[in-house]
Amino acid sequence: MPVRALWWKDGALHLLDQRALPGRAVVLHLRSAEAVARAIRTLTVRGAPAIGVAAAYGMVLAARAGRPGRERAAKVLRATRPTAHDLFVGIETVRSAWERGDDPLEAADLYRAAIVDECHRIGEAGAPLFARAKQVLTHCNAGALATVEWGTALAPIRVARQRGADLFVWVDETRPLLQGSRLTAWELAREKIPHAVIADNAAGYYLATGAVDAVIVGADRIARNGDFANKVGTYEKAVVAKENGVPFYVAAPWSTFDARRANGRSIPVEQRDEDEVLTLAGRRLAPRASHGRNPAFDVTPSRYVTAFVTPDGVVRPARLASAIPRAR
Ligand code: MRU
Repeated sequence: MPVRALWWKDGALHLLDQRALPGRAVVLHLRSAEAVARAIRTLTVRGAPAIGVAAAYGMVLAARAGRPGRERAAKVLRATRPTAHDLFVGIETVRSAWERGDDPLEAADLYRAAIVDECHRIGEAGAPLFARAKQVLTHCNAGALATVEWGTALAPIRVARQRGADLFVWVDETRPLLQGSRLTAWELAREKIPHAVIADNAAGYYLATGAVDAVIVGADRIARNGDFANKVGTYEKAVVAKENGVPFYVAAPWSTFDARRANGRSIPVEQRDEDEVLTLAGRRLAPRASHGRNPAFDVTPSRYVTAFVTPDGVVRPARLASAIPRAR
């Protein structure tokens, strides 16, 4: 069974501290909206669908404590990370339930269950794409840790494996925070799925030498025309995949789709602290006098996407706008 990234128990949000993995499995118990906001900002919990669910429970904690108030809690949680659309959907789901006088916990539980269900359906919809592909490349962590359960990019791989596909996964290490080598590799190793971690700059070598049959990644925000934001470095993989005739898939639940955004040009890209680039495992690598730049995401134009794997099936970019459910 895949891991569970977070769950609600005894009036607190329990989550697996993703900063400590793969070395230690530490479970934190969060009891305030501010603590949830801090966990999202520090990538203690991370991945677009997972931060949406965490923020939904952050709203529940505010409602139960009576502080901060409804709008203030929503503001604090929205200010954590700008790129993932799911964050805003999760907050709004509970904010509007609270405003209507509905039970915030029930709204958050339903939201969480819907995300888990959608990720499972992504697995079912995407698995046939990998029935014949032998070697698949992925970037960052779009597994159970990033989505509560199942994953987005990893869900079709999991389901294809359950159906007997003989898959091997190339795992980009994903500098600067190493979500690939720390988290994706941890998930795959737990389930005995064959894989190898590669340096980010080795992906082109494997794509160009016929070692990759398909690429699949998750997303943080997808515009109506199919342009999408994902972990920085995704754009390069998409361009090199197309150059080498390798299909490139993007898997996401509906909460990641931002139907109000026509294209990717205005997607906000989070800029993180330069120290994440200048150091490794807390140790300074670059000269003291050097500065860094640290965009957490990049935006890939839809022309590089072969298809989107959604909870309701595999959709080509040209048909995406009409496939996104109206409520988004
Ligand atoms: O900065 P992170 O670790 O939150 O970035 C996560 C990603 O870029 C994932 O690929 C994305 O959220 C999709 S997760 C299903």
